[in-house]
Amino acid sequence: MKSDNVFGDGGIMKNLGINDPVQAEEILHMGYSFMKLMSYYNCAMMEVETKFNVLNEEFSLMWDREPIATVKTRLKNPISIRNKLVLKGYSFSSENIETYVNDIAGVRVVCSFLEDVYTVAEAFKKQDDITVLEEKDYIRFPKPNGYRSLHLIVSVPIFLQHEKRQMKVEIQIRTLAMDFWASLEHQLKYKKFDSEDIAMMTDLKYCADLSAELDAHMDDLRERVYSSAVDEEDVLRKNLAGMPVLKTEK
Ligand code: GTP
Ligand code: MG
Repeated sequence: MKSDNVFGDGGIMKNLGINDPVQAEEILHMGYSFMKLMSYYNCAMMEVETKFNVLNEEFSLMWDREPIATVKTRLKNPISIRNKLVLKGYSFSSENIETYVNDIAGVRVVCSFLEDVYTVAEAFKKQDDITVLEEKDYIRFPKPNGYRSLHLIVSVPIFLQHEKRQMKVEIQIRTLAMDFWASLEHQLKYKKFDSEDIAMMTDLKYCADLSAELDAHMDDLRERVYSSAVDEEDVLRKNLAGMPVLKTEK
């Protein structure tokens, strides 16, 4: 497929932010099969997102609070996929994407408290259609810069019209404090700060340690507040009060 027109006003490549004709040619060459693969990843991402929303719903009924603050999803853009493959020494093909790139579909789960991260992760991991391919606990073993999060690469089935397909999804589970630090660090990194700048790196690590301390204190508070079993009747009363009133027609 030729890419002569794809950079014109409103051209698909321009819309995708792709400015390099060589990159565009490779992506266009894959055409339909690439779009189909992206759509499968999108489905897998939705499956995983729903699983976390379901867990949140159940926990809120059991404990009268929601352990998950937000669930966000993102599909890696074509240029980043291509560049990652090139960097690893592989050509841009559907097979190589599925084999060598684990983070096409990304789900980020931000929890309120530290313990919620592990409770939610364990409940998710033991679901019988989930296969954990890789787990990295950057909370127990933070990165040298102070980055903390629990990372999972899982395989999840999607059910299509004529087949069942296993797709990989990258999941990051972290607390609000971890997310706060990672978002700001990402912004600073985006501005290309000098990673050789020792003072800067020390300050960032100091902030990461502060956020870890904050998590530990807040988790302590959570334990004190939620240590006693919930009053099921009280939860039921509150939930019913929030429900829309059902009107019966005469
Ligand atoms: P990629 O980085 O995805 O190529 O793979 P990897 O094997 O190095 O994965 P890792 O689990 O270390 O990191 C995956 C993702 O976690 C990254 O793409 C980021 O979204 C996030 N992440 C990892 N390290 C950092 C960090 O130091 N700061 C921030 N803000 N995010 C990080
Ligand atoms: Mg990544």
